[in-house]
Amino acid sequence: MLDEKKIPLIQVENMKKYYPVKGGIITHTTGYVKAVDGVSFSVMRGQTLGLVGESGCGKSTIGRQLVGLEMPTEGRIYYNGCDLAELQKNKKEMQRIRTKLQMVFQDPYSSLNPRKHIYEILAQPMLYHHISEKSTVEKDILKILDMVGLPKTVLGRYPHEFSGGQRQRIGIAKALSLNPEFIVCDEPVSALDVSIQAQILNLLKELQKELGLTLLFVGHGLGAVNYVSDRIAVMYLGKIVEFGEAKEIFNHPVHPYTKALLEAVPVPDPKEKERGRRLLQGEIGSSMNPPSGCRFHPRCPYAEEKCRKEIPTLYDTMQTKRKLTQTEAKLQAAGLKGDSCHMAACPVVISDRKEDDHG
Ligand SMILES: Nc1ncnc2c1ncn2[C@@H]1O[C@H](COP(=O)(O)OP(=O)(O)OP(=O)(O)O)[C@@H](O)[C@H]1O
Ligand code: SF4
Ligand SMILES: [Mg+2]
Repeated sequence: MLDEKKIPLIQVENMKKYYPVKGGIITHTTGYVKAVDGVSFSVMRGQTLGLVGESGCGKSTIGRQLVGLEMPTEGRIYYNGCDLAELQKNKKEMQRIRTKLQMVFQDPYSSLNPRKHIYEILAQPMLYHHISEKSTVEKDILKILDMVGLPKTVLGRYPHEFSGGQRQRIGIAKALSLNPEFIVCDEPVSALDVSIQAQILNLLKELQKELGLTLLFVGHGLGAVNYVSDRIAVMYLGKIVEFGEAKEIFNHPVHPYTKALLEAVPVPDPKEKERGRRLLQGEIGSSMNPPSGCRFHPRCPYAEEKCRKEIPTLYDTMQTKRKLTQTEAKLQAAGLKGDSCHMAACPVVISDRKEDDHG
């Protein structure tokens, strides 16, 4: 019998998303923003994949493609083994699938209709998608509100009457109301007070465990992403530069960009603060005209001549210098190969690594 846990719920193959840039007097396409430029990864059922990287590297764009809000320019997305592009052809089937794929936004206010009170916001989609009956919808809503830590009294209130943290709980309740299997959490705590951030992160972790949800957790910083994720994908300018088990990435980062992101994680120990951190210099660069070769080379302290020419692919960091075949990379990204999974797109640093660097 097939072990469901070993089958990725979401599988992405060579996804690209290019947005046309218009210009001129007679509006015509003058170029493309290559927001996502060939990424492959999987999210295992019941797990959280963290997606981390600086502003503009393409995280939200990936999220929108995964929940079917946009279609990729190239590549395939499989949900439960079914090609989303094929499913789109059947409107009714796609409508059903869309309820299974939900999104929680950084600013929940933008996804909550300010003219409707919370009961209406939650009840209408539940009734429309036949998740609930008229006679049971209020009971079902109260159950969801209880799960996200909100009292019954919120039902008659409007979105503007809540604090940021409470509004995010409503955003999570809205996503949960459609009985999803997969939720993209797009920087759900970035706009919140530090004291509230931990509460929302813990809530997401609890809900995932309780409901067996599969999550893509998008964040800027490795600290929060590491806290909630089983695996982490590090993105730089439309590409994944490092991928693997969260504890591997956090404790043994390989790619110079991941190392720089880790340097930016706040540390409570004042002695550590004095260590003289090397924070990332310069700007992320343009997705319209990305740097040649390794896109990180203009900011990389280890850059060599070949970095300007050769586009690095993912290497297995456990087996020094060995480049993965496409099939191996896919199997490893899906967690179906080897005990541990860790890949990085930097041949220079990997080939400098000694065996005892690891572990
Ligand atoms: N609809 C669109 N049309 C044109 N360009 C877009 C569109 N959506 C995103 N982009 C561009 O694609 C790139 C990636 O954007 P995206 O929002 O995915 O980044 P992000 O990693 O989520 O950033 P942030 O952390 O700031 O949310 C950016 O250069 C952005 O300007
Ligand atoms: S390939 Fe070269 S430029 Fe890119 S991260 Fe590695 S050392 Fe730096
Ligand atoms: Mg974003």
